[in-house]
Amino acid sequence: MSEQRRRYLVTSALPYANGPLHVGQISGAYLPADAFVRYLRARGEDVVYVCGTDEHGVPITLTAEREGKDPQEVVDYWWAHMKETFERFGISFDNFSRTSTPLHAKNTQLFYRKLKEGGYISEAESKQMYSPTEGRFLPDRYVEGTCPVCGYKEARGDQCDNCGSWYEAYELIEPHSKVTGGPVEVRETTHLYLDLPEFSERLREYVAGQEHWRTSVKNFILGIIDGGLEKRPITRDIQWGVPVPEPGFEDKRFYVWFDACIGYVSSTMEWAQNVGEPDRWREYWQEPESRLIHFLAKDNTVFHTVIWPAQLMGTAEDGEESFVLPYDVPANEFMNLEVVVDGERRAMQMSTSRNLAVWLHEALDRFPADPLRFYLASNLPETGDVVFSWQEFQGRVNSDLIGNLGNYANRVLSFAEKYFGGEVQRPEGLPDDAVAVLEDFKELEARYETRMLAPRPREALGELLAMGRRANRFFDASAPWKTRKEDQEQTLLTLYTCSVLLGSIAYHAAPYVPDAVGRLEEFFDGPIARVSDLDELPKAYRVTGAKPLFRRIEDDEVAVAEGHLSRAVRGEAS
Ligand code: MF3
Ligand code: ZN
Repeated sequence: MSEQRRRYLVTSALPYANGPLHVGQISGAYLPADAFVRYLRARGEDVVYVCGTDEHGVPITLTAEREGKDPQEVVDYWWAHMKETFERFGISFDNFSRTSTPLHAKNTQLFYRKLKEGGYISEAESKQMYSPTEGRFLPDRYVEGTCPVCGYKEARGDQCDNCGSWYEAYELIEPHSKVTGGPVEVRETTHLYLDLPEFSERLREYVAGQEHWRTSVKNFILGIIDGGLEKRPITRDIQWGVPVPEPGFEDKRFYVWFDACIGYVSSTMEWAQNVGEPDRWREYWQEPESRLIHFLAKDNTVFHTVIWPAQLMGTAEDGEESFVLPYDVPANEFMNLEVVVDGERRAMQMSTSRNLAVWLHEALDRFPADPLRFYLASNLPETGDVVFSWQEFQGRVNSDLIGNLGNYANRVLSFAEKYFGGEVQRPEGLPDDAVAVLEDFKELEARYETRMLAPRPREALGELLAMGRRANRFFDASAPWKTRKEDQEQTLLTLYTCSVLLGSIAYHAAPYVPDAVGRLEEFFDGPIARVSDLDELPKAYRVTGAKPLFRRIEDDEVAVAEGHLSRAVRGEAS
């Protein structure tokens, strides 16, 4: 175990509760966090991993209106759907909450009050589009009109899809409501603003001091801070969201990005209540040595490195317990899809509205979680955009997961059962080649750990595969199938060493393929442990009734999965 137990609060971005999860989201914020957390737990660290659905904001109300439903109905449905899908996929949250709870509304209002007490809130008038027929202000995304720059007729309220210009919605020519088609007009409205400029100095110091952040992220954020921050409106003229505790704001709600990150705190509090120690959330949020780590996709970075830290800084003044600031914000790039169109393979952008996506719950109807996790982990967008390909899924699973790791486990387990009755006793001493492979493993384990803690779980997986190759090489070179005829003792030495290696491989594979390692433990009795952690070599390993851990992915399964995507591209229902 590590010399000193560390405390971690790990989060994955709260997904909007308005549709099913797709593999792109999973690769961005959930699988990397889950692998990281599983490893930390195995190392004996003190870690709590929270998430929940983001249930406010325009994405939710748009979905509700399109479906003729109440927003609450929409989020209730998708919260349950997502929770179940995450469970099926083996994402091991300690708590999966949601932002429409009373506790969360209370927390959001408390954050607001403290920010106000600190002098960080002001009121200002602004222009907003108003729909007289609907009797309400419209968010930008609800407004459409003619682009003031290029004349495109169906330009959106904030940006033109034709020429790419950005503008204020009231600059549109003949603006109208996207919902009713009726005309809209400009009206003055009052909103509350968070005084971000007040935090500039502290934010710059905080970000500049993050030695372990990627330089690109750090420079990008410093650029934004140095470019000058502006006050940000934190309220909206909408009905769905957390109520604003101010007279005159009864018809307004907090903007979704004001309350969203507070959802991490609310989820941790809910966790603490669930475990019967309601105050324990403070250990993770308010004790300075706690490491707060937010996993997310890159489009969420600014919210978590500028606005959220400002909210946290502004909440604890006057010697009250202050919140820790994010220790790391590992942001991932995007994932595209490989689609077969007219017999040709092409990478395309996912489009949830065109159903051009690999939905996680559907993928799980076809394949177990482990191979999906393995492939996605081997293809995480850690350093650049990636492409999801069903063909590559098959290739990686069959050759790396099964051909390398699964095959090694099978060889060792079946040999032990067949020729040693499943009893592999510790020999008197180990020959040089066995000592050498154990030393190599210690080195690979250290490399794996460095990469996993970076956190770069995709790179760590590369080290796991290196362990598998090294172990297979040892098995091959020792040729137990030959030695067993002439030298029983030598064969036992091989098998024993191979079992130690298998324990290490299983330990390091568990963050990626937890189900398989769970099954292995049922028939492999011996420590699942790092070689580096073994104070002395175990007395014996026992194998009973071993079965293959994985099944191959067949061509026809891939063809069916690819067929769905091709049909989506052609615009056919699947
Ligand atoms: N719901 C947002 C999205 O899907 C992410 C919110 S992350 C949060 O882009 F933590 F701030 F909630
Ligand atoms: Zn335009």
